[in-house]
Amino acid sequence: MNDEGLSLRYILDWYNWAGVDETVGDEPLSLNPKKTQDVLKRALPKVELSAQKVVADNVDVRKATTDLAQATLDAKHNARELCKKAANLEELKNLVEHFDGCALKLTANKTVFGAGKAHAKIMFVGEAPGADEDRIGEPFVGRSGHLLDKIIQSIALSRDDVYITNVLPWRPPGNRTPTEAEVAVCLPFLKRHIELVSPDVIVLLGGAAANALFDNQESISKLRGKWLEYVLPDERIIPAIATFHPAYLLRNSAQKAKVWSDFLRLKKKIF
Ligand code: URA
Repeated sequence: MNDEGLSLRYILDWYNWAGVDETVGDEPLSLNPKKTQDVLKRALPKVELSAQKVVADNVDVRKATTDLAQATLDAKHNARELCKKAANLEELKNLVEHFDGCALKLTANKTVFGAGKAHAKIMFVGEAPGADEDRIGEPFVGRSGHLLDKIIQSIALSRDDVYITNVLPWRPPGNRTPTEAEVAVCLPFLKRHIELVSPDVIVLLGGAAANALFDNQESISKLRGKWLEYVLPDERIIPAIATFHPAYLLRNSAQKAKVWSDFLRLKKKIF
């Protein structure tokens, strides 16, 4: 290496030692001020353009977020107003089937409204239809549903003696967790559903159902097994109890004992 090479090497080492170990531009800056100015003049418009794009993108995201929040509020208000028109379950079902304020409907095959005895003593509320429910159009007809049937039989009842529904009448694609907006938009339908069935007791299957109806973020482990009070618009109170979701029990059979104890409490209440 000649002297010039050695001194360049020395400068590079010095930069490296000082922490300058990365290039930030496509073109090297010259130590000659005139050349540096030329390079900067060529580079600046590109930088400005990308800066403008970043700002525009952020504005778009902010606008989309605001639009979504407004659309959710409108859809929720719309759902609430529609619900008032439903005088019975048939009318509510019809309204839900024709409601276009929730995008989940676009990806679902069927609207899964509810099933069972119209004025049952016990009303079960799950989270949302899965693939089997979406195909058949009835709540809890897949693996979780078969387990739920057995749990109901354990207190000497059958599916025909109870009423079953979900917080959401449409399956979230790929069984993903429903968004807060989706839950908020569909909640007025669930609340009217409860008013129309008017059960003696509500059983909330899983944390999502309990959190939606009681508007909290408590974990299901903390909520389950205790009597809660669901207050209807006319101030009547319906006792409600949360328990683990059957799908969770299929993955954690050790928790079945807790559900059994929750159902014993339920049995005591209704018989
Ligand atoms: N899980 C639910 O929460 N609801 C159903 O209907 C089926 C599975």
